[in-house]
Amino acid sequence: MRQILYISTAAPSADIDVAAILAQSMRNNRREGVTGLLWTDERRFLQVLEGQDAAVQGVLDRIRRDPRHRAIVVLHDRTVAAREFGAWEMSRRGPNDDADAFDARMTQHLAAASSTVRGTFEGLIAARRAA
Ligand SMILES: Cc1cc2nc3c(=O)[nH]c(=O)nc-3n(C[C@H](O)[C@H](O)[C@H](O)COP(=O)(O)O)c2cc1C
Repeated sequence: MRQILYISTAAPSADIDVAAILAQSMRNNRREGVTGLLWTDERRFLQVLEGQDAAVQGVLDRIRRDPRHRAIVVLHDRTVAAREFGAWEMSRRGPNDDADAFDARMTQHLAAASSTVRGTFEGLIAARRAA
């Protein structure tokens, strides 16, 4: 099972519609057996993708060509014995969420993740909170 973790930045001119990205991703990823987690504050994206090698590559190739974001940096690309994110999930802090509720939800999503993946998400979340 291949697992990729990347970070990217929303294109300055892009009108980011997170719900639209989520709908597209759910539809395609289900079809292709790709699972993962997408975190965004609508300025940065941090995403894990996992599944069969070719399926993950196909999704990543599409994502790389997407003009809604730029500066895509793959933080790791590795083989995992089993999925760490069994269900496709997307997390963002909605207008009605308080920071603690949001963080609690992220902690749940990350429960089965390896410490590196968890640490990366937690680092970004902490940076966001400190900003
Ligand atoms: C931050 C970000 C994450 C994305 N994640 C996924 C994804 O996990 N799966 C996916 O199929 N498309 C994802 N997309 C959308 C793709 O870039 C692309 O627009 C989409 O796959 C095209 O699908 P369609 O041909 O079915 O419309 C993402 C886009 C952005 C900006």
